[in-house]
Amino acid sequence: MSEESRIAKMQERYLSQIQKAQILPLGKEQLACYVEAATLQYQLSTLTAGEASAQHLQSTLRLIDLIRAGMKDLGIVPKELPQSLPPLEPESQPETPSRPAAGSQAAPEADAPANADEEAKELGLNMRDIRFEEVPSVTFNDLIDMTDSIQKVKSYLDNAMRMKEYPALAQQMQNEGQTGMLLYGPPGTGKTFFCKTMANYVMTHQPGGAFFTITAGQILDKYVGEAQKRLKFLFKELKNYDFPVLCIDELEGLCPSREGDASVHTQELVSDFLQHIDGVSGKTKAMVIGCSNYPWKIDRAVRDRLSELCYLGLPSENAIRVYLQRKSAKFLGATPEEQEKAIDFIIPRLSHASYRILDKFARDVQNLSFFKTTDANPKNKDVATFLPLNEKELNSILDQLIIAYDEAYIKKLEDPSSWSTD
Ligand SMILES: Nc1ncnc2c1ncn2[C@@H]1O[C@H](COP(=O)(O)OP(=O)(O)O)[C@@H](O)[C@H]1O
Ligand SMILES: [Mg+2]
Repeated sequence: MSEESRIAKMQERYLSQIQKAQILPLGKEQLACYVEAATLQYQLSTLTAGEASAQHLQSTLRLIDLIRAGMKDLGIVPKELPQSLPPLEPESQPETPSRPAAGSQAAPEADAPANADEEAKELGLNMRDIRFEEVPSVTFNDLIDMTDSIQKVKSYLDNAMRMKEYPALAQQMQNEGQTGMLLYGPPGTGKTFFCKTMANYVMTHQPGGAFFTITAGQILDKYVGEAQKRLKFLFKELKNYDFPVLCIDELEGLCPSREGDASVHTQELVSDFLQHIDGVSGKTKAMVIGCSNYPWKIDRAVRDRLSELCYLGLPSENAIRVYLQRKSAKFLGATPEEQEKAIDFIIPRLSHASYRILDKFARDVQNLSFFKTTDANPKNKDVATFLPLNEKELNSILDQLIIAYDEAYIKKLEDPSSWSTD
């Protein structure tokens, strides 16, 4: 591997560690990511020359500060820094390094690309990842057991659409509470999926409806100032549409609380975000939907803007039943009675499972039944009926599932009044 590609690989690994760390809750796993990232950056500073080396080193030192602060938060006393770490030359480091331009020289303002795709590309974004170009195929009907949430979201969107139809009245209405929604719940409970169904609704019910979706990881960048530029671009883009909806996944990563010892960078980013969100809610009536597994980590002012709360919890027993009936019935029994019996057997084993786990289970069941059926029919390639699985086979799948359940975490999610801890 050439030196250049080795450096590029390390850089890539560094970025992925940082992005991961930024969305993990404070804990050993998060610290491990930061430590890994700091090690990579330090190695890079020894491999690269000149300004790049200085930037890597500065980044290492920033990470070390973060790690030490995180350790203190966890009650671990950090050791003194090793002497071997070279000191940083303050005057040789730019205060806020900016991402090097794609070419050799930074493009002047006047040369800014006219088209959004190019502008996005220059910012390291891809418009196709951000805006739904085609209507997603999933609808509210594909969601199991979400009647209340769907009702809430639908009336929220319908209200906003109606206001578009009656601009003269809308102008006289105060809609400060209409900025956005917060979808929250444990991982794998349908936040991203729900957003897709919303995109379908908006794009099929509203002329000029456009749905944007972005994760904190796509916005954040190791270069100070870059995330702000991306946000600015994104909100500017929204204004080009008549009815834009923006969904931000992992919102706690993008807008973490500014209380405590948040870095200046975080403070600036969050306050920029608030300004953007206030800007779009005023005139454009863009809607912002935040998604989070840790809503209490989101900055309080941001949370206040997303005043409509929508909890997506783990599937109930009945939801699991409906799910299995919809997705797995034919692999579980030859008759409706046999299928119900198998479902009764499975349900207790899936208690506290998320929809994502149910997806995995359904996939495994389908695959095992496929192998069972084809093994039994080596000559008959036209066989069209699956052989159902027996209890032993189902157990072999169920035993492999890892269902992690943290009662305290779920309780906290279910009680928004416990989110403001200080
Ligand atoms: N209410 C639901 N009904 C049916 N399937 C669901 C539901 N919620 C989630 N799923 C399934 O679970 C998968 C994981 O959900 P996802 O939206 O990625 O979770 P989250 O974003 O909350 O982590 C989805 O791709 C979808 O197949
Ligand atoms: Mg998601």
